[in-house]
Amino acid sequence: MPGTTTNQRLLDWVAEWANVLTPSSIHWCDGTQEEYASLSKLMVDQGTLIPLNEESRPNSFLARSDPGDVARVEDRTFICSENEEDAGTNNNWREPATMKLEMNQLFAGSMTGRTMYVVPFSMGPLGSPIAHIGVQLTDSPYVAASMRIMTRMGQQALDVLGNSDWVPCVHSLGAPLADGQKDVPWPCDADNKFIVHFPETREIWSYGSGYGGNALLGKKCFALRIASTMARDEGWLAEHMLIVGVTPPNGETKYVAAAFPSACGKTNMAMMIPSLPGWKIETVGDDIAWMKFGEDGRLYAINPEAGFFGVAPGTGEDTNANALATLSGNCVFTNVAQTEDNDIWWEGLTDEAPARLTDWRGDTWTPESESPAAHPNARFTAPASQCPSLDSAWEDPNGVPISAILFGGRRATTVPLVSEARDWEHGVFLGSVMSSEKTAAAAGAIGQVRRDPFAMLPFCGYNFGDYFQHWLDLGMKEDAKLPKLFYVNWFRKDSNGKFIWPGFGENTRVLKWVLERISGSGKAVETPIGMVPTPDAIDISGLDLSQEDLQTLLSVDTEEWRTELALIEEHYASIGERLPIELTNQLNELTLRLNA
Ligand code: OXD
Ligand code: MN
Repeated sequence: MPGTTTNQRLLDWVAEWANVLTPSSIHWCDGTQEEYASLSKLMVDQGTLIPLNEESRPNSFLARSDPGDVARVEDRTFICSENEEDAGTNNNWREPATMKLEMNQLFAGSMTGRTMYVVPFSMGPLGSPIAHIGVQLTDSPYVAASMRIMTRMGQQALDVLGNSDWVPCVHSLGAPLADGQKDVPWPCDADNKFIVHFPETREIWSYGSGYGGNALLGKKCFALRIASTMARDEGWLAEHMLIVGVTPPNGETKYVAAAFPSACGKTNMAMMIPSLPGWKIETVGDDIAWMKFGEDGRLYAINPEAGFFGVAPGTGEDTNANALATLSGNCVFTNVAQTEDNDIWWEGLTDEAPARLTDWRGDTWTPESESPAAHPNARFTAPASQCPSLDSAWEDPNGVPISAILFGGRRATTVPLVSEARDWEHGVFLGSVMSSEKTAAAAGAIGQVRRDPFAMLPFCGYNFGDYFQHWLDLGMKEDAKLPKLFYVNWFRKDSNGKFIWPGFGENTRVLKWVLERISGSGKAVETPIGMVPTPDAIDISGLDLSQEDLQTLLSVDTEEWRTELALIEEHYASIGERLPIELTNQLNELTLRLNA
């Protein structure tokens, strides 16, 4: 039955695609609890979902994916702009018409024997001026159900859409079913995946994968790749950033956004439990921030998502107690291990592994087994509303005003615990050279550094040169009251290869300095790379950290930075001709300051 909509273009679009995809039936998702229950039951009957122990994990399920469909596939992700140059060296490019021709052949009949779900969704609070609507077609009930957790999905999104525009998202598993053919628990076309974006027409086409960012098209495909191009055209920002509210004792809440590449503790920071007495850290978002200017010239941010799609391994009581509390029920777990009493487990959930488990492939596992019990990219899909540290303003349609943006990465050397950009343009320079080490560096040695500007390397939907220019342009906007920009590094190591900074909740101490810089009271010294706290400016009361270690954390070593300059030059050369001249100038000025 069609959803309740009079949007003729939407009705026509659904009918046209049904002709191509030839599903056996069409289901318009209304987003109700009853619908979720019936989708779950269907998947349990088909073997896609295993219901977990109702007492320990109510209304929760385990899914095991096809072993060939376990993560985002960057080499199969394409930005199909009319001109190759517009996609940039940071993206795989194909000519749009050729790509459409090729994919139309794959899509033809690809939903045969399956139901096509029509999934209307809002990225952001319903009706928010910062939010946008998408509609996804999918033949995966797992995707339809996950979209209900991750977005505001169903009739309510159709109501907001009315007769206006939406971002069309087409997704097929690429596994048509012949008459009488038995289905598999995780259908996909593992060797033939395409995650494709057409930025000019704001379309998303995804084929072959049922996993995460490849298939839940509201997240990376829409909220980052397509939204980043919308943001460039319309003067706002769609960023790979967490958002937190930080409240000092008896003080005013300030909102901070932060961009970190994968495996740098983003979800942990979004839900961190502050170590300083009387401080409060509250979660607005853990992965994506959409920021638009308010009438007062400030940037206001929403989290466009409604759930968390987090990496499970490494999430434990010590590292992220709030995440664990969020997972108490109503969740889908994918590729985690299963305990004997039908609950979940992954590496890092407890110090000691249970004596016997079923691993993510469905095989028996014991602590002697050679491979991990949970896939390293095993995920939880959980409603944000269950997070104990959720900020009361997280659904404010007007967003929260951003006072500071942090950039960061994992660096054993060179980069101090925190520094503040000299000004907006210098901050854009810092974002553009963001870097992280792939593996832990040996003592004293520099690890292999990957540049991940603004943590957007896999997610920027257009040429990085143009993207940096967009950030620079915002700095020139009249009457803009822009946030202050900072660069943090929790991961500096001592000469024995040990992390110096304790991280996690202790990062509150760095946020305290950030807030003091905003109010004007934080003490800092000017260094060639920006403003760095004086040693007495970081509150280390009650922390087992020597003055010598603190000095190391805050030190700026000219020799190390000269080595860094060469790496930045190489990185800039790889961006190509559209690299803004302002950034080349920033690099030259940094060189001069280091040589002064
Ligand atoms: C994610 C990612 O899944 O950044 O959030 O890969
Ligand atoms: Mn992410």
